[in-house]
Amino acid sequence: MKIYFVTSNNGKYNEAKEKLKGIKNIQLEQKIINYPEIQTDTLEEVAEYGIKYLKDKLKKPFILEDAGLFIEHLKGFPGVYSAYVFKTIGCKGILNLLHDIEKRDAYFKSVIGFYNPEAKEMKIFKGISRGKISLEIRGTNGFGYDPIFIPEGESRTFGEMKINEKNKYSHRGKSFEKLASFLKKLKIENFKV
Ligand code: IMP
Repeated sequence: MKIYFVTSNNGKYNEAKEKLKGIKNIQLEQKIINYPEIQTDTLEEVAEYGIKYLKDKLKKPFILEDAGLFIEHLKGFPGVYSAYVFKTIGCKGILNLLHDIEKRDAYFKSVIGFYNPEAKEMKIFKGISRGKISLEIRGTNGFGYDPIFIPEGESRTFGEMKINEKNKYSHRGKSFEKLASFLKKLKIENFKV
């Protein structure tokens, strides 16, 4: 069964592909189609809206994913505004907001929406990665806020890790692990699409 991952972010796609590569009869394919990312309070609402918008347009099994960085000292900011904040002030701007702040706890959250037209069902899978914001930008791997996020149990940032290492700790690694368990249980032989 082919599953489209609707994203223009190659970093996300490569991490997802690595995570699902061992599953028999599943081929993940990147699909770049714009869909509205509504401004709302939760990543779940963004993902659900995206699924409803795309389901009649794609007519194939697909996933999309919404993610964000939530910083405790900033009361959860940038959260659902992570993409805009990255585009505007970026990693450097976040480090400036936390200048001289010792409490640097933060977490990443990933919400995957999966739609299967055969069963007409939408499923949501979530993953959280807790850690800290680093004192400086470190590493050139990954994307987005990777160079300033140190997951719990590590001293390196995501930007200093390879994809399979990041996947062990990351929000996306965890949400895709849940999707993988779900897909393994599907009786894929029965799918026409
Ligand atoms: P979106 O899910 O593409 O809307 O991502 C929101 C923002 O968070 C973007 O600026 C991404 O670059 C950033 N982001 C999402 N996931 C990650 C990640 O795994 N590492 C670093 N930044 C991320």
